[in-house]
Amino acid sequence: MEFPNHLTSASQLSRDQIMNLCDVAEKFRLQQMPPATVDTTQQGALLFFEPSTRTRIGFTTAAWQLGIKTVEVNETKLTSNMSTEESLMDTVRTLNPLVTFFAIRHSEGSAIETIIKHAECPVINCGSADQEHPTQALIDIYAMLRRFGSLDGLRITMTGALRHSRAARSLLALLGQFTEVEVTGFSELQLDFSTEEIALFQVRGNRYTHVVDAPWGSEQVVYSAGFPPATPSGTFTSEIRRRYAITPHIATGLEHGAIVMNPLPRVDEIDIRVDKMPCAYYFTQNELGLFMRKAILSEFCVSRFDITT
Ligand code: CP
Repeated sequence: MEFPNHLTSASQLSRDQIMNLCDVAEKFRLQQMPPATVDTTQQGALLFFEPSTRTRIGFTTAAWQLGIKTVEVNETKLTSNMSTEESLMDTVRTLNPLVTFFAIRHSEGSAIETIIKHAECPVINCGSADQEHPTQALIDIYAMLRRFGSLDGLRITMTGALRHSRAARSLLALLGQFTEVEVTGFSELQLDFSTEEIALFQVRGNRYTHVVDAPWGSEQVVYSAGFPPATPSGTFTSEIRRRYAITPHIATGLEHGAIVMNPLPRVDEIDIRVDKMPCAYYFTQNELGLFMRKAILSEFCVSRFDITT
């Protein structure tokens, strides 16, 4: 299957491409992928200019398990204790002869475009500003698929600072490739998804409803996006945060088989007492991440790999 040269946005991916990535992830999980014959000179550059635990360590582990080495750059040489200022463009040019893919996290949405412009190998967006987190959204889709067998017709409630959650925004874009999906957005009005994002999600007849009163009870998936510490809409009082938190009482009232998801890290959006309840799915979701990250590396960096499927 043909994939774009880079994975920058969830909106780039078709349903077939998403399903293909889920199939490959599942093969990795079941250890059905043939051993990769990898050029041992391959090296991925993880440019993580924002903190990350899951995505950074997850892609490092995925690469290593595929036999690919990684190097990491965390400083932009823009801080006073670095030798001198260096533009992102020059960092990429410097690394071009050494590496075979870039995985990038940056607090500025425009950084990914700068890298693509100058990179001579595939670029994977591992989280850009509050805009996009396509690799996390693919993990979330794969986790839902594992649990329910299909995305079509799924009933999902998404809550938190939706407008500023890059993971939630990318997930809504991917869900838009499926049909008869019902998403309820439960958030402060100013934190709802944008009109454009909702319109794209609805293109194939999916249904989106925004509510301000707690909707709990009829969904199969509760997707708790949490509240970033600071957003363009400001910070959030503990009173607001509590309004959208998933408590044991809410979890008890969910329908049989429903799951609670969260891209992690969790702050206070899910009560830790929910962790032991049957609906708690977020650590399983996190565990499945390794297989999807291996699938992403295999499919997007295929020109640099020699994997016989
Ligand atoms: N879900 C996620 O992106 O986690 P990290 O910030 O730890 O990578």
